[in-house]
Amino acid sequence: MNNFFLFVVLIGLFHCEAGCYDSCPCPDMLDTLIESPETTLYSEGAGCIRNVTCQVDSYPVIHFMWTESEIPKPDEADDDYFLATVPAPGIIEYIDMFSYFGVVCENDGWYATKYPNGVYYEYGLGFRTIGPDEVEGKRSKIVLISW
Ligand SMILES: *[C@@H]1O[C@H](CO)[C@@H](O)[C@H](O)[C@H]1NC(C)=O
Repeated sequence: MNNFFLFVVLIGLFHCEAGCYDSCPCPDMLDTLIESPETTLYSEGAGCIRNVTCQVDSYPVIHFMWTESEIPKPDEADDDYFLATVPAPGIIEYIDMFSYFGVVCENDGWYATKYPNGVYYEYGLGFRTIGPDEVEGKRSKIVLISW
């Protein structure tokens, strides 16, 4: 092998070892989006891969704004925000919110792309649901993960 080529490859490897894990342009999820970091099992993988594991029976909820979502706001929606939830308690104990909601880093923000239980918005004194099939694949910027 050409020595210069080997040199370039080695430099590339060392550079990656030092920098690849912080090469994600999005803000720190744990600091900026997670309301209760102390009850979250959080870890970071390569690039923008994260693991945000919560207990299902603490009812974790993701908050979004209609203005920062590809999901159109229904005319009767009362508020600026909507929500997505995890399965009802009893089926599984822990859930990785990152993979469950298909979270991706885009344009310096974290976006959900999957809503296996659909999304909810306030209507009158209760909530209305938009089914998962209607919202699948549409990006919504995560405002807060709370419970
Ligand atoms: C996420 O973290 C939890 C808790 O540490 C672990 O059990 C689970 O396997 C992880 N999931 C992935 C996709 O790595």
